[in-house]
Amino acid sequence: MEFLTLFAIYVVVVLTCIVLVCKYSDQQKTPFTVIFNFLVKVVSPFTPKWLQKLSQWTLHRLFHQRNNMFIYLHILLEGAVYAEFTYEVFGFCRDMDTTLTSLSVPYILLAIKSVFFYLCIKRDPGTVTKKKVAGQLQIYPYDRRLFHPGVSCPTCQLAKPARSKHCRVCNRCVQRFDHHCVWVNNCIGAQNTRYFLLYLFSVCAMAGDIALLTADMLFHAVLRSGLLRASYIDEYGQQQAAGPLFVVQHLFLTFPRIIFMLGFLIFVFFLLAGYALFHSYLALVNQTSNEWYKSRGYVCQHCHPTSTPDNLCSTVPDHSKRYYYCRGLLRNLGEIFSPLQPVRKKDN
Ligand SMILES: *[C@@H]1O[C@H](CO)[C@@H](O)[C@H](O)[C@H]1NC(C)=O
Ligand SMILES: [Zn+2]
Ligand SMILES: [Zn+2]
Repeated sequence: MEFLTLFAIYVVVVLTCIVLVCKYSDQQKTPFTVIFNFLVKVVSPFTPKWLQKLSQWTLHRLFHQRNNMFIYLHILLEGAVYAEFTYEVFGFCRDMDTTLTSLSVPYILLAIKSVFFYLCIKRDPGTVTKKKVAGQLQIYPYDRRLFHPGVSCPTCQLAKPARSKHCRVCNRCVQRFDHHCVWVNNCIGAQNTRYFLLYLFSVCAMAGDIALLTADMLFHAVLRSGLLRASYIDEYGQQQAAGPLFVVQHLFLTFPRIIFMLGFLIFVFFLLAGYALFHSYLALVNQTSNEWYKSRGYVCQHCHPTSTPDNLCSTVPDHSKRYYYCRGLLRNLGEIFSPLQPVRKKDN
């Protein structure tokens, strides 16, 4: 009974996570969003009107208005994982002679991550303001493909610098706009993409490290229990060796919470590692997610070996003149870590 209940909770939590992730990355059509929208369409005839209204309202509040919900959720999940780690895994590991140094790494990573998390939330992503717009207009040249000169934002009533976009959630234009991230309740733009990248990598490191320590602990627990050499008498009176399934069930029943946490950590790790790699790729080829969604494959051949022949730069040998997106991977990365600042007007 306990095993099944736990397993059901486990599945529900994992599915909730997947749905949340799909909804929050709704800027583009991922396979997840397609499935999600399909499910909504299938389910909606069977749900009462008020429930539909309520869920629409909740989704609007959560995803189309600024709110700190996901920051709290983030802290809650992290708190749960660290509490579990500290109260159960830590003790076991100490018994199994894991050194204090390796057991303190998760806490160090937590501290590092919190700094980047805080910076992502607090740093201005590069809001286009009346005062700065003149300088911001000069940061990037217009490519006349995605960004055209002379366009202004109807809401902010300011000229739109190249690579900027109006964020509907925050209701402002942001320079070198990447995307709006609900987990930090802020846009990711010119001035905080670096913190965002570092934040992603530190969360991955955190989840990966705790998962490894936990897996190591479980492995030693199985070795100690002697289950691998154990056998049982089946209903025909025959002696049977306890197989891997037996071990898994034993672990589930002996350490239910730890197994639950390990599953969650592995899920988070792979999800975020993929996301972090995608963002590193974008940083290396000098693109924002916004530009990437708008023009897939439009990256110069130098950076992108599979680009199609109708790309500008493959027909222009000296692409550095005609094509701005790529001046070498290191320089692109440099621009993320020390973003170009708006040109200041001299006061005289
Ligand atoms: C990145 O691309 C922009 C144009 O979108 C260009 O102005 C800028 O110089 C590029 N940066 C690097 C480091 O190549
Ligand atoms: Zn705007
Ligand atoms: Zn925003």
